Amino acid sequence: MSETGGGAAVIEAGRAPETDAAAAVESEEALRPPCTLVIFGASGDLTRRLLAPAIAHLSRDGAISSDFAIVGVARSPYTDQEFRAYLAGGAREHTPPTQGRPGELPAVVRYLAGDFADAEVYGRLRSTLDAIEARPGRPRNRIFYLATPPEADTMIVSHLGEQGLAAPEKGWSRVVVEKPFGHDLASGMKLNADLRRVFDERQIYRIDHYLGKETVQNIFVLRFANGIFEPLWNRRYIDHVQITVAESLGVEHRAGFYEKAGVIRDMFQNHLMQLLCLTAMEPPAAFEADAVRAEKVKVLQSIRPFRVEAIDDWAVRGQYGAGVVGGKSVPGYRQEPRVSPDSTTPTWAAVKYAIDNWRWAGVPFYVRSGKRMENRISEIAIEFKRVPHALFGADAGKLNPNVLRLRIQPDEGVSLKFEAKIPGTVMQVESVTMDFAYSQLGAPIQGGYERLLLDVTHGDQTLFTRGDEVEHAWRVITPILEAWETRPPKDFPNYAAGTHGPDAADRFMEREGRRWRTLR
Ligand code: BG6
Repeated sequence: MSETGGGAAVIEAGRAPETDAAAAVESEEALRPPCTLVIFGASGDLTRRLLAPAIAHLSRDGAISSDFAIVGVARSPYTDQEFRAYLAGGAREHTPPTQGRPGELPAVVRYLAGDFADAEVYGRLRSTLDAIEARPGRPRNRIFYLATPPEADTMIVSHLGEQGLAAPEKGWSRVVVEKPFGHDLASGMKLNADLRRVFDERQIYRIDHYLGKETVQNIFVLRFANGIFEPLWNRRYIDHVQITVAESLGVEHRAGFYEKAGVIRDMFQNHLMQLLCLTAMEPPAAFEADAVRAEKVKVLQSIRPFRVEAIDDWAVRGQYGAGVVGGKSVPGYRQEPRVSPDSTTPTWAAVKYAIDNWRWAGVPFYVRSGKRMENRISEIAIEFKRVPHALFGADAGKLNPNVLRLRIQPDEGVSLKFEAKIPGTVMQVESVTMDFAYSQLGAPIQGGYERLLLDVTHGDQTLFTRGDEVEHAWRVITPILEAWETRPPKDFPNYAAGTHGPDAADRFMEREGRRWRTLR
């Protein structure tokens, strides 16, 4: 739902031609609103790697208006032409061959070199926008995209407010904020307050790129567009849930950020929390921003608070040492560039969540994520309860539980494991799998930013994180951060790169009477 009450206009029969023409324009503008995307941090990695290809794909697919314009703002001294070439290069390099060719960039691409702290930059931005929006009747629609270090967000937003850019007449203005949304609960709340001093919550789009993934959006569809899963989706039938985001990459060139963040802030506060919420939420009243986000917030409110002194019963941490990934020797975390040689930053964690509500009481959610693991695999595995009574003689004890696997990436799909009789004269039972692969659908899976950017142009916040959601997520994980930051680990590094994580995590699961799923 748009804050401006958007939606396709209805063209009524029997109206005068000029009225029809006006309605057609209105309808076209609702579908592909003319707007200007102002990217702060335009010369950075995110713009080149994610935004440039997404815009080029949307342009190729005719999904954005021919009046879509881009204004880049950053310190690097580019000209308009150089910036266009920079974006085009990013679009080419970061369009995988399976996605076809990227399209042309919009006709209007401008670049403003300057410091975000300098008020004069915003004056120039205002004149640039005025020039772009000069065509009579063109709405003054603006998206301010903060592809900037989080420290800059507050400053940029308050300058936008001071220049009156956040509330244009004859149009809308929206701000897109990238994670991290603060560093802890206090800074998350402050960032929200700073944003809301200038923009209304309806104008704020906090991006979590996991919500842009097709397989993550499919969690809604699997659960709420099928009759057979939802009746089983509760404590009566489900034993536990395992959510995994395993990465084979290390920290790469991001030590400056990662040393302070670690895996809990980098992955658990946002991406993994979203996966957990979508798996655990109640059916929303409508597939609409506030209805969906309200249900996610209820899940966060139902998570049993962790106690700092009892954190070892709920969470395990790890840091990778040297090892072999994909046949190549790789250094340990402490040997990565710009990482402190005695760093205590966790690169791996597993957390058990108890969701205290009627649906999930007694069903643990085990969530783990780490860098430099054996394989890159993300999945949500719903493990059902075992059959209550064994019928098949000697095989009975070996019957495996049913598992529904939502494969988030890279082998996107859904599979259901169940028991079947092996053909033959004796009763032998074995686990088999029914499998759906996204590749069967023929359409390539896009990166996620295409959908999210388009949703911003349409004013649809369903796949964006609401301010209170961010704060609740911080509230949930803060005791873990506090416990770990006040009690430095004694055993780091405690897993070798290229393995599935620390032994302590296996022992943790053994105590639970369960096992981590093997990641293949
Ligand atoms: C980012 C994290 O948000 O997500 C990275 O900062 C992580 O550390 C990345 O590697 C994972 O995203 P994806 O889409 O590759 O699973």
